[in-house]
Amino acid sequence: MMRKLFLLGTGAFWIAVLLVWAGARWLPSVPEQALPPTEKRFTLEEIARHASPEDCWMAIERTVYDLTPYLPEHPSRSGIVDPWCGKEATEAYRSKMKGRPHSPEADHLLTQYRVGALEEP
Ligand code: HEM
Repeated sequence: MMRKLFLLGTGAFWIAVLLVWAGARWLPSVPEQALPPTEKRFTLEEIARHASPEDCWMAIERTVYDLTPYLPEHPSRSGIVDPWCGKEATEAYRSKMKGRPHSPEADHLLTQYRVGALEEP
């Protein structure tokens, strides 16, 4: 009786080992495309397709932002930021078009709207 049990147990153990080995070998592993993508990259041409206040992207310091939801919140009068939609706007952001930088609060706000990075030239 004990011998039978022992043999059954040993058999079951080796079958389990075999199944795990076969599973690891043949079950599809996570394909590379399913892994979280690294940061998206956009060209200036792609950014230029988002050049209206209703769909406004900008590149600032080589980072790309979708600022559409922020535009209505921007504290300056309208028409100051809109012309920068679809463009490389580092200098405009740095200077507010009057030689004064944005505050650290503005820099922090900006991070919320990041969608990717500017493609290397
Ligand atoms: C790129 C084009 C932009 C231009 C030309 C521009 C210009 C200005 C101007 C003229 C003012 C008001 C006057 C002043 O505070 O000196 C201002 C204030 C402000 N802007 Fe912009 N802005 C731009 C983009 C942005 C973006 C992308 C954000 C954030 C997502 C932002 C956030 C703010 C904030 C929070 C203020 C209040 C003052 C401060 O914190 O510096 N701006 N901006």
